Amino acid sequence: MSDQSADLLDPYEKLINLEIIGKRVSVPEKNRLLRCFQYLSINTISYGDFCWNGDCTNCQIWYHLKGQDEQNDRPALSCRLECEEGMVITRLSRFIELEGITK
Ligand code: FES
Repeated sequence: MSDQSADLLDPYEKLINLEIIGKRVSVPEKNRLLRCFQYLSINTISYGDFCWNGDCTNCQIWYHLKGQDEQNDRPALSCRLECEEGMVITRLSRFIELEGITK
């Protein structure tokens, strides 16, 4: 983790596993997904076009939970939704660019 992103995160004790577009990643528990994306890709998210408060919808994702499949996919705003162990994110808004995942 970079020192930059450490300041932005809510307190956490461990990392949890998620899948983003087929790639397994570890992110800090008890944080909203957009913060988790920022943890993974500090520059693209920090300088991305995001309001961080539920207004712009640029942070939209589609996801299902552990044990579900793509038929259960639902949309969510990643600046609002907390990460959860085993979550599977299947689609990202075009505004979300993640180093090593989408680029
Ligand atoms: S960042 Fe604007 S709605 Fe989530």
